Amino acid sequence: MLIPFFFYHLITLRTHAATILSHAAASPLSFSVKDFGARGNGVHYDTLPIQSTIDACSAAVSTSPHIPSCHVEFPRGKYLTATVHLKSSVILRIHKNATILGGTKIEDYPREQERWYVVLAEDAADVGITGGGEINGQGLKFVKRFEKRKNVMVSWNETGACLGDECRPRLVGFIGCRNVRVWDVNLIEPAYWCLHLVRSQNTSVEDVTIYGNFNSPNNDGIDIEDSNNTFITRCRIDTGDDAICPKSSTGPVYNFTATNSWIRTKSSAIKLGSASWYDFKGFLFDNITIYQSHRGLGFQIRDGGNVSDIKFSNINISTRYYDPLWWGRAEPIYVTTCPRDSTSKEGSISNLQFINITATSENGIFLSGSKHGILSSLKFINVNLTYRRRTRFAGGLFDYRPGCEGLVNHSTAGLMMEHIDGLVVQNVNMRWFEDNSARWNNPLEFRPSTVNNISFLNFHSGFHSGEVATI
Ligand SMILES: *[C@@H]1O[C@H](CO)[C@@H](O)[C@H](O)[C@H]1NC(C)=O
Ligand SMILES: *[C@@H]1O[C@H](CO)[C@@H](O)[C@H](O)[C@H]1NC(C)=O
Ligand SMILES: *[C@@H]1O[C@H](CO)[C@@H](O)[C@H](O)[C@H]1NC(C)=O
Ligand SMILES: *[C@@H]1O[C@H](CO)[C@@H](O)[C@H](O)[C@H]1NC(C)=O
Ligand SMILES: *[C@@H]1O[C@H](CO)[C@@H](O)[C@H](O)[C@H]1NC(C)=O
Ligand SMILES: *[C@@H]1O[C@H](CO)[C@@H](O)[C@H](O)[C@H]1NC(C)=O
Ligand SMILES: *[C@@H]1O[C@H](CO)[C@@H](O)[C@H](O)[C@H]1NC(C)=O
Ligand SMILES: *[C@@H]1O[C@H](CO)[C@@H](O)[C@H](O)[C@H]1NC(C)=O
Ligand SMILES: *[C@@H]1O[C@H](CO)[C@@H](O)[C@H](O)[C@H]1NC(C)=O
Ligand SMILES: *[C@@H]1O[C@H](CO)[C@@H](O)[C@H](O)[C@H]1NC(C)=O
Ligand SMILES: *[C@@H]1O[C@H](CO)[C@@H](O)[C@H](O)[C@H]1NC(C)=O
Ligand SMILES: *[C@@H]1O[C@H](CO)[C@@H](O)[C@H](O)[C@H]1NC(C)=O
Repeated sequence: MLIPFFFYHLITLRTHAATILSHAAASPLSFSVKDFGARGNGVHYDTLPIQSTIDACSAAVSTSPHIPSCHVEFPRGKYLTATVHLKSSVILRIHKNATILGGTKIEDYPREQERWYVVLAEDAADVGITGGGEINGQGLKFVKRFEKRKNVMVSWNETGACLGDECRPRLVGFIGCRNVRVWDVNLIEPAYWCLHLVRSQNTSVEDVTIYGNFNSPNNDGIDIEDSNNTFITRCRIDTGDDAICPKSSTGPVYNFTATNSWIRTKSSAIKLGSASWYDFKGFLFDNITIYQSHRGLGFQIRDGGNVSDIKFSNINISTRYYDPLWWGRAEPIYVTTCPRDSTSKEGSISNLQFINITATSENGIFLSGSKHGILSSLKFINVNLTYRRRTRFAGGLFDYRPGCEGLVNHSTAGLMMEHIDGLVVQNVNMRWFEDNSARWNNPLEFRPSTVNNISFLNFHSGFHSGEVATI
């Protein structure tokens, strides 16, 4: 019954496309999923109508070289769907009050776990998602047990497609794509990671709101994997797991910029790694607010990739402890490289700049290289640090995880340094709020034989009551 219906529409729309072409060569086409039979009632699956619209759009563009792109319109409504495949030159335009709802059954997703996304583009160019509406992964339906400390999630591991407790679909994926644009859209409640860029080039993510339940694990905001030339701006990311997370698994990550954004997470706001087999190079983070997160700016380099030329500027950070089931120990800045296990290589980290940073935190800055993975040329310029306990979670641990030395009991330092060559500390001010805990308030800690070439210019540390010590 459905086939003749779509066939009919395809023919009329192709004719329509040809007509448009003869009149206005350069304007984009647009097709509505409603015209292809989508019901938008949130109950019936609209997979086939949505996919047919995308396919028709893609066909129309590829047969008409003068049409730059084709928009797939989602008018107001809720469109329940299995995985839909975005094609080259197609833009999904999800209108305000329109929602694409991801299916919650394993049959809704392709056989291969690496293709478990609600919206997936593979080897496509000039693709995008916009419109002011929403893509919703129905992540709460994947919660097996709501728990105050951390929700227990469904895992589709019994299929054999993957192992462990992280077998759930991601929300939006671009794999091997070029010229991707995601803008003015809300990405809500992913069951697993939210927006995933894989081996892609030239991606921009602008004015995007990402929201995931604060107690649900693995609902990362944006994961930038093995991808170059990525630009994120004016985003608001509020998630349980890592918010912005570059990773290198099969290739390096070059040229990544994130600006003008707001982040809250129960894990790391910005985290490089821990998958770090290849290099990370040429990153800029500017004008970002990090609010009550478990870790601010983090490097977890564990697999031999080298990191260089990374700049953070104009960043306000507040961090706090959450339940230790979550990664992070309230460090505003956390730069670590060490071998994950005895078979791992050690990557180095060089040329990092932290300029105009303000932080209020329950723990200190942790800078830890390793024997064959040195941190070199680090600069901290114009940095105001306020150390103040606000929760009752225990402090007093150095966190080398994942792998390496694990958790180590140790008193808290304002700035802990090991395996470093070249550090400039200029216009840095530490303010301490007194606390009964004895494991607190050691301004600087050096591991002397591993730290080389450090300069301090205008460094202050003191209790907030007014007394200020200077070195
Ligand atoms: C969206 O829904 C809200 C509340 O139902 C309504 O007030 C608003 O006018 C709708 N907006 C659009 C663009 O339909
Ligand atoms: C499958 O996932 C569940 C969590 O939902 C976990 O408890 C279990 O250990 C996993 N089983 C395997 C074989 O990975
Ligand atoms: C990158 O993508 C944008 C659209 O997202 C496009 O305008 C620009 O030309 C692309 N740049 C390159 C070098 O392809
Ligand atoms: C990113 O750039 C690096 C360096 O030029 C290159 O080796 C890598 O293949 C590029 N990645 C992609 C996905 O194009
Ligand atoms: C990174 O950006 C620089 C400067 O814009 C450019 O020259 C270089 O080709 C880019 N690298 C990659 C791998 O695209
Ligand atoms: C910084 O980002 C905020 C949005 O988070 C924006 O309102 C503000 O204009 C930006 N400031 C600058 C100097 O770009
Ligand atoms: C950081 O806080 C200062 C002082 O409150 C404010 O002037 C500045 O705009 C803030 N910057 C960001 C990126 O939030
Ligand atoms: C990192 O740098 C070291 C030293 O230059 C080099 O031996 C290693 O191959 C580099 N790692 C990668 C992934 O290229
Ligand atoms: C740090 O505090 C000093 C003194 O209150 C202030 O002048 C300076 O602007 C602050 N810098 C930053 C980056 O917050
Ligand atoms: C740091 O802040 C100062 C004062 O607000 C400003 O003049 C300077 O451009 C900022 N530096 C950077 C790298 O943004
Ligand atoms: C830290 O010390 C406490 C008590 O001294 C002990 O209970 C805890 O197991 C230690 N933790 C680690 C990671 O060594
Ligand atoms: C010390 O570090 C500074 C800044 O990182 C660098 O410019 C300088 O060359 C280093 N000096 C030596 C002797 O390594």
